[in-house]
Amino acid sequence: MVNDGLNPDAIKGGLGQSLFATHIVYLETVDSTNRLAKELASAGAAEGAIVIVEEQTAGRGRRGRSWVSPGRANLTFSILLRPTLVVDKVFSLTMILALACIEAVKKRTGLSCMIKWPNDLYVGGKKLAGILTEFAARDRRVEWVVLGLGLNVNWYPAEGETMSRLATSLQAEIGKRVSRNELLVEILVQFEAYYNDVLSGRIEKVYERWNDFSLVLGKQVVIESDQLKITGKALRIDQDGALIIEDGEGKEQKIIHGEVSLRFGEGAPL
Ligand code: ATP
Ligand code: BTN
Repeated sequence: MVNDGLNPDAIKGGLGQSLFATHIVYLETVDSTNRLAKELASAGAAEGAIVIVEEQTAGRGRRGRSWVSPGRANLTFSILLRPTLVVDKVFSLTMILALACIEAVKKRTGLSCMIKWPNDLYVGGKKLAGILTEFAARDRRVEWVVLGLGLNVNWYPAEGETMSRLATSLQAEIGKRVSRNELLVEILVQFEAYYNDVLSGRIEKVYERWNDFSLVLGKQVVIESDQLKITGKALRIDQDGALIIEDGEGKEQKIIHGEVSLRFGEGAPL
């Protein structure tokens, strides 16, 4: 049954023996789940802690952007991980959270969504979800990673507002409310399986999948950051999660996700 509140006991029960059942922080309101998860990380919390909230008062996207999400409608949560990984591989974790989300959404709603590299999920030209990845490292080895997901579930962005043109939700797409508790459990179960693949080096299948679900491949794209602007054709996403594009001179360029934005070039609508 689709109820209105997140239920940490039901989530814990649904997760069974999962890594993510061990330390669930559930709050009505927080400024940002990523901010709180990073605080837990600095205080020594173990891998697998998750922070789930009904409402964020200062949800964050990348590059100082804000994440807007009305209370009790959507999923906003963060996961704390302490993987044995070199920093170059951190972005593969963003990619597997995107895959886990795609599969959970498909299973729970039948809806197909795609990854808009580097960190968004789209359905039919509108943004459904975003991932914010933050980490700390020493000597190029990861100490902790916080993965934050904002997924629009039972929200109708108000008619006429900018958000209604840019964003969508599961309910808006399928016309039915969706259980956030069940969806969250499904995402975490799928994510854990992928996470084990990454940790044990079984990356081949995983990385084929993130190419299969990529919205950008074969399209003309413009990559921008404070320092650069490159136009080219998106060829593939490599095993580190970096985007490989062919620039105007036919040369391959590797774009690390960092602080770059991607938009589609002319003649390449979503
Ligand atoms: P890019 O990822 O290419 O830099 P982006 O616009 O998706 O571009 P992000 O930083 O990934 O930028 O995401 C933050 C943006 O997401 C905000 O600027 C806002 O436009 C949008 N946004 C905020 N809240 C939501 C939401 N609940 N659903 C969909 N989009 C949202
Ligand atoms: C983006 O699209 O740029 C990423 C948005 C990420 C939003 C989620 S909501 C849970 C977590 N806490 C935050 O403050 N941000 C992420």
